Amino acid sequence: MEITKIQLFSYRSYLKQEFEFKSGLNVICGKNAQGKTNLLEAVYFCVVGKSFRASREKEVITIDKDIAKIKVFIKKKTGTSTVEIIFSRNNKKTVKINGIPIKKISELLGEFNGIFFSPDELKLIKESPEDRRRFMDIDISQTTKQYFYILSRYNEVLQNRNKQLKTDIPFDELKNIMQIWNEQLADCALKISKYRQNFVLSLAPYAKKAHAYLTDNAEDLEVEYVGIKEQTKEDIIKKLESNLEKDLQLGYTSYGIHRDDIKVIVNGIDVRTYGSQGQQRTCALALKLAELSIIENVTHSKPVLLLDDVLSELDEGRKKKLLEYCQNTQTLITCTSFDYDVPHNLIQIHKEEV
Ligand SMILES: Nc1ncnc2c1ncn2[C@@H]1O[C@H](COP(=O)(O)OP(=O)(O)O)[C@@H](O)[C@H]1O
Ligand SMILES: [Mg+2]
Repeated sequence: MEITKIQLFSYRSYLKQEFEFKSGLNVICGKNAQGKTNLLEAVYFCVVGKSFRASREKEVITIDKDIAKIKVFIKKKTGTSTVEIIFSRNNKKTVKINGIPIKKISELLGEFNGIFFSPDELKLIKESPEDRRRFMDIDISQTTKQYFYILSRYNEVLQNRNKQLKTDIPFDELKNIMQIWNEQLADCALKISKYRQNFVLSLAPYAKKAHAYLTDNAEDLEVEYVGIKEQTKEDIIKKLESNLEKDLQLGYTSYGIHRDDIKVIVNGIDVRTYGSQGQQRTCALALKLAELSIIENVTHSKPVLLLDDVLSELDEGRKKKLLEYCQNTQTLITCTSFDYDVPHNLIQIHKEEV
């Protein structure tokens, strides 16, 4: 899958502009604040139907304008298509595929596949387990619709259980009440845990391969699912029961899949705690490239790779490898200057004078 063209109309810093992209590496070059990230944001908007940085979507409309529009032109094995998003200050946004408005954002998913990566993605490695759980949850939800429902159910039951832990009901009575919650929680937890285990198992070899490639085999990456050890519903219930006193003291449920994590290990060391910034960035990138491979496997087509400002913290060797990788995957990469001897389509960005 490739993007051949984008048209922008009153979108952030763009009044009316069009950019064409080629296969392989497209380098979007320009000084600070010229609109490089804005351009990638617009492209990714058409992938997922939302912004990676605007919490209030109307902020993408150029100041003083009422309507903004993005239109991307996509080339696939099966033909061409377009995705269009129209923003309005007064109405909800409209998304059109081949000119026809869609009713739900879920209809957009799969129309135009892309993977986005920016320095912010480092939080995937560095920050709390919550970010890595979100990473698993988003990816699994994309291939397994029911996963999302089970997860929502789990969170609902968990909240109810936690509420019970804060009441003053006598212990024996509480133990009885908890039976219902434990039973439901265990049922969901077992399913979620299995999905996550399988997801990490399928991700691991791709991430290992991408990482070996980026580091020229100098470093070895392992990713492991860190979650509940219990493998049956009965065992999970037992564990919840035996933790009741502890949970009462804490005021929350201390055991469960809401504590899951992914361990990222490079050459035997935990990269979250001991890795250098550059190593962490390489791991985050390897995980993203692994995601790309998984989507490619499922859809039989390569997603577009969108890389915002990623060259700065990689050493020369890793930069070269990444740019080499981009030759075979359509990539849009932003930077302030580019002097690498690799085939690329250069797109210079200057802010329009208003
Ligand atoms: N809604 C908007 N209307 C007009 N200009 C905007 C809007 N949103 C952002 N901008 C402008 O876009 C510029 C930042 O663009 P950005 O893509 O982040 O730059 P960079 O090239 O450094 O990645 C800023 O100058 C900002 O003023
Ligand atoms: Mg930027």
